[in-house]
Amino acid sequence: MTPSLDRRSRSLWMTVDVAPNARAMEGDQSCDVVVVGSGIAGISTAYELALEGQRVIVVDRGPIAGGITARTSAHLAPLCDDLTSAMIRLRGEDTAKLFYESQAAAVDRIEEIQKKEEISCDFRRLDGYLFQALNTDSAIIDDELEAVRKVGAPVHRLVGVPLRHCKDQHVLRYPRQGTFHPLKYLAGLAAAIESKNGRFYAGTVVQRIEESEGAVTVTTDRGTISAQAAVVASNSPVIDRFALHTKMAPYRTYAMAFAIKRDAIPDALYWDTLDPYHYVRLQPGDGRSDFLIVGGADHKTGEADDADVRFEALEAWTRNLIPAAQEVTHRWSGQVLDTIDYAGFIGRNPGSRNIYVHTGDSGQGITHGVAGSLINSALILGHKTKWADVYEPSRKTPSGIGNFLSENATAVKNFAEYLAPGELSSIEELKPDHGAIVRQGLSKIAAWRDVSGRLYARSAACTHVGCHLHWNSFETCWDCPCHGSHFAVDGTALNAPAITPLAEAKVGG
Ligand code: FES
Repeated sequence: MTPSLDRRSRSLWMTVDVAPNARAMEGDQSCDVVVVGSGIAGISTAYELALEGQRVIVVDRGPIAGGITARTSAHLAPLCDDLTSAMIRLRGEDTAKLFYESQAAAVDRIEEIQKKEEISCDFRRLDGYLFQALNTDSAIIDDELEAVRKVGAPVHRLVGVPLRHCKDQHVLRYPRQGTFHPLKYLAGLAAAIESKNGRFYAGTVVQRIEESEGAVTVTTDRGTISAQAAVVASNSPVIDRFALHTKMAPYRTYAMAFAIKRDAIPDALYWDTLDPYHYVRLQPGDGRSDFLIVGGADHKTGEADDADVRFEALEAWTRNLIPAAQEVTHRWSGQVLDTIDYAGFIGRNPGSRNIYVHTGDSGQGITHGVAGSLINSALILGHKTKWADVYEPSRKTPSGIGNFLSENATAVKNFAEYLAPGELSSIEELKPDHGAIVRQGLSKIAAWRDVSGRLYARSAACTHVGCHLHWNSFETCWDCPCHGSHFAVDGTALNAPAITPLAEAKVGG
């Protein structure tokens, strides 16, 4: 296996080293709870457990907090990302209310922790504005107002937001939302965990998680970890082949940052009523200039490779509504896992006794991550939690069957792609700095050529359960449309659920 050629984009947050002491694991280890995955869910769970005196290990295949959390837009908005009205329709008022409470508790918990641990992470409370998109009617605003009142969240209806062309738009204002710098926050949390003898291992690939009577063994490429319990918080769970993956779907989402003069627009969260929606938020810079973060333009992972067009559309939308936006400073993309009923899967892994899972953050990764840390830590410690049923991984959602069928159509359609011709008829046609799928006999090759002309040829079959990969030219990686794995051009698995690298392909054989 060649070393990883990770050429993915860098987000605004990625200047912070969350755990500078983290190294690859050396030799076998033991602890009370091992956490697989070091994003917001993994580190927050480790923190809650360490606070209770548990000996914790956090292990990650890449750098600590270098995965999808580092690609978030960092909004702390506790209402359902897919609209509360939609959640009530699918899951009923009582569950929607508990969902809101748990997500609001996550924001409260972040506020409390950053204060207690004295973490400088730009945390602040601010208003959130859901505003009627231009050239649409206001029916969504009316529906949503009624729904949000039903779940007991504070909300005010008004007209106009301080963005250009939006003075007559219908708006819902949600007080006391939040935002922060996610990696500064996690760096503070990691230091607090280390001060309680928690350990972080980066660059350590988890290969297997097994359990026997009262014990869990995590096998990595660097040795084994013995523990009483494991929490799998690897974005898309490495432990699962089908049970959870058939109930959620991966979406690529895009974000960009602009320089903007401080106070050019009021510091708030703004998002419109389109699907996918546009969102806007601010992040303090150094000096008199801040960052304006704008995002949206989501699509199902692997179903488009036109990031430049999407960024152009986001930029045009931004310049139309916020003329104060200056030059573009960052462009990046991330991935969200949308579940069929808008809530994540958090709790005991289906069929396991001492393995817990956290996945399906449905566009609310930060608040899900922290809500999940409260739930999984309570379950492990045998404490009561009133939110477990909302996120129970084994829950049945009969009324979500329509969503379920459409999400699974992706996998069915995907396998049919093996019968289609390659994107190029021969590997010789592949230009430098390009990737493409090439048919060779009965198999498909995921091929990339670097600028010097060197060819990297790998099997186009994802190592999770074999779906056909798609090229992502913006991130220079291979995306799996089925369950969200990403692979570097040399085949290294970058994002779960895949564990093993892509097989090398023999060209011309
Ligand atoms: Fe499941 Fe690729 S992620 S087959």
